[in-house]
Amino acid sequence: MTAALPDLQDRRVNMARRIIVALDFDTVDDAEAIVDRLGDAGQSYKVGLELLTVAGPTLATRLVDEGKDVFLDLKLFEIPTSVAGAVRAAGRLGATMVTVHAMGGSRIMEAAVRAAADFPQLRVIALTVVTSLTDTDLAAIGLNATIGEQVIRLARLAQRAGCHGVVASPQDAALLRAELGPDMLIVTPGVMLQAEMNIGTTTEHARPAHPAAAIRAGATHIVIGRSLTRAPDPAAVLAHLEDELGVLRAHS
Ligand code: C5P
Repeated sequence: MTAALPDLQDRRVNMARRIIVALDFDTVDDAEAIVDRLGDAGQSYKVGLELLTVAGPTLATRLVDEGKDVFLDLKLFEIPTSVAGAVRAAGRLGATMVTVHAMGGSRIMEAAVRAAADFPQLRVIALTVVTSLTDTDLAAIGLNATIGEQVIRLARLAQRAGCHGVVASPQDAALLRAELGPDMLIVTPGVMLQAEMNIGTTTEHARPAHPAAAIRAGATHIVIGRSLTRAPDPAAVLAHLEDELGVLRAHS
């Protein structure tokens, strides 16, 4: 028997959790102002090193208390014991995602996955190659591989270590989906809105793509920062994205 397709409204609501708004701010007030402006439409937020360093876990805790998904982008690259400790702290906080650098190797990813096992809501997401890097950058740090080769190598390692998903550029999403099968989460930062791409806005993302292209290619989540948070009307940008992406069939 085929399950009925969720109606459009359900799919939009489902999509809201997959659009992760990056709260890259250096004050809690600025971050809270965006959360307040987005209201119920904002269901999923990324809290990264900048905000955590200035504000500690205060805002993350508020978001969890309000039922939001919180992606703690800790980008862990440490000894396994320290990685496990940080993952447990993220789990206790109520985070739904935490990142670990795949470049740190299998042992730290396995330590992260073991530590997350006590927190059913928590997903360990491995960072493959930061989207700002190019082949030349990899050569400069002594890696004899193209970005594409390195992304695949690290994603396979992450999957074998039991990670629930990977972070990757939208351009790599299709290849990764084919490589990793249907169950792994693929989280894609490095997205730009169509209007910005049309006018050739400069970006530090080496390989940007439109959010819809990322989802079509097999991404389960997109991370969007400045295109939304610095827009004149962030709520309108989010509503537009939820509408646009909600009609797509997303994985997982
Ligand atoms: O560029 P934007 O503001 O949308 O960035 C949102 C998030 O994407 C950032 O918090 C960062 O973690 C991630 N990012 C990335 N690679 C870049 C730039 C940003 O992974 N080159």
